[in-house]
Amino acid sequence: MNFDLSVMNEQNPFNIDIEKFIEQFYGFIQINHLYDSAIHEIETKLEIIDSEFQSKFSRNPIHNISSRLKSPQSIAQKLKKKNIPITAESILANLHDIAGVRVICPYIEDIYQIADYLSLHDDIHILKQKDYIKNPKPSGYRSLHLIVTVPVFLSTGKKIVPVEIQIRTIAMDFWASLEHQLHYKTDNSVPSELSAELKILAETIHDTDMKMEDIYHRINDIS
Ligand code: GTP
Ligand code: MG
Repeated sequence: MNFDLSVMNEQNPFNIDIEKFIEQFYGFIQINHLYDSAIHEIETKLEIIDSEFQSKFSRNPIHNISSRLKSPQSIAQKLKKKNIPITAESILANLHDIAGVRVICPYIEDIYQIADYLSLHDDIHILKQKDYIKNPKPSGYRSLHLIVTVPVFLSTGKKIVPVEIQIRTIAMDFWASLEHQLHYKTDNSVPSELSAELKILAETIHDTDMKMEDIYHRINDIS
């Protein structure tokens, strides 16, 4: 694609460096494609794990998979907060949660099984694991968080791309989605007595998760 830079410069009321802008712009588009491809790679692996389970055990350990790319606004905010320049290179070097995949499972044991199966893939490398199920956040939030890297093969060669994977039960997701909305609605400042109630609800939900898993095992034992 050819741009007539002289024309653009004449019409450049903000006096920005057009050539640099275009270079950065294409850098961002390529980054978008790279992280989007990494999401596809991870989703495919997860779908294969799920379908193998279905064919072997007639059961799906994955209820739902969703994904998102971090918005340009959130990327800019995060880089600004960390005092890092907003460029394509610094995004690649500093942010691990541009690509996000959320996996929702029926039972708590499915979460750990999926994490184990993923870690057996020899092209997947687990950079970081945070177990907010065994160690919930002060808010009551529970989930297993993994930062993994996955290779993406482009015409220019192999790129190793980080992806954040959040794995949680249907019940944990119900709590996290509503709690997130409440924070959003109240501009992040939920009154402390309501935060305390939300935390108790998270514990009740965890208790229910464990009881459902127990019932699932007892039914399996008699059938
Ligand atoms: P970031 O730099 O903001 O990504 O922080 P971090 O990497 O320390 O965050 P962490 O890995 O602890 O959590 C990242 C994501 O987990 C968030 O973007 C949310 O999706 C989710 N999360 C973490 N804590 C909570 C919580 O208290 N409530 C809800 N609803 N979601 C949470
Ligand atoms: Mg994070």
